Amino acid sequence: MPAPLDLRSDTLTRPTAGMRAALAAAEVGDDVFGEDPTVLLLQHRAAELTGAEGALWVPTGTMANQIALLAHCRPGDEVVAGWGAHSYLYEGGAGAAFAGVQFNVLSARDPEECRGFFSPEDLDAALTGVDASGHRPPVTLVMLENTHNRGGGRVLSPARLGALAAVARAKGVPVHIDGARLPNAAAALGVSMAAWGAQVSSLTFCLSKGLGAPAGSVLCGGAGFIRAAHRWRKALGGGLRQVGVLAAAGLYALDHHLAGLPRDHANARRLAAALARRPDARVDEARVETNIVLCEPVGCTPAELCARLAPWARALPFGDRHVRAVLHRDVEEDALAWALKGIGAGEGAQP
Ligand SMILES: Cc1ncc(COP(=O)(O)O)c(C=O)c1O
Repeated sequence: MPAPLDLRSDTLTRPTAGMRAALAAAEVGDDVFGEDPTVLLLQHRAAELTGAEGALWVPTGTMANQIALLAHCRPGDEVVAGWGAHSYLYEGGAGAAFAGVQFNVLSARDPEECRGFFSPEDLDAALTGVDASGHRPPVTLVMLENTHNRGGGRVLSPARLGALAAVARAKGVPVHIDGARLPNAAAALGVSMAAWGAQVSSLTFCLSKGLGAPAGSVLCGGAGFIRAAHRWRKALGGGLRQVGVLAAAGLYALDHHLAGLPRDHANARRLAAALARRPDARVDEARVETNIVLCEPVGCTPAELCARLAPWARALPFGDRHVRAVLHRDVEEDALAWALKGIGAGEGAQP
């Protein structure tokens, strides 16, 4: 009998033999001196992929977002973000602690409908009324998340971004994308990450989520932004030395794992269909756009539903109304087929 799938996150993937070999063979140097050839190669590749002038490897997505706040904002500034954004909800209060910013959270009134997104009109209103009287702090960054984690892996399309970016540009406010799962958004729409990169001041994407590297994110943007980011990475303790070993894993992931993301998305749709057959779970299958599946327990709590699913798959209670499952490259077909059968059989079924 297969072990239950671990669908708590796409960060659970382990480096493959090929990735470990690439890691072992990496040419390295001191990256604080800018002398690690593998890091330089990865940064060049990431800049090309996102259409940015430059890129900087950083250890985590959290550090990438925090560096963006530090580089774009000053203490006391306001950052506009959507409901549920990782950057204010799940980064340990770092935005307040280090950059000293406050967040204006839009779309919070109707999170079920908005799922983390907000309209150009809402953004325009949030950027209006900042006056010389000093009552309102200056808004110095619009933070967008793509795909949106709390929104269930929702994709912010390049067209939708265009409308938001036009409003921000008219007000002279830069836009940053927390693209921890931007590769999934690109795979879902069949476009390159440059479709978003060309429209924003900065963005980050993670190598350690669906792409399967053990660590690392890349922060991309203009030359001036990358210079500032380099300084803040050091200040936050993220200046690592022979880190080409991790960059090699990232390069390997870009070469070999990008192509696997559509399979994760297809598997997410299969899981949603199995969950939809259960009387104790409600899933809107049309909302499964990438590798994340959110379902609403019916007649039980998120923790109780997770316990019922546990013989087949580990999932996480997500807020007080949902259970989240995340598909990833370590999910094997045989084990998935077995788990889907059990999940679809409903409450009380035993392996
Ligand atoms: C949307 C989003 N942004 C940022 C991060 C932070 O990434 P890390 O765990 O590498 O700090 C995550 C992590 O899950 C995430 O889901």
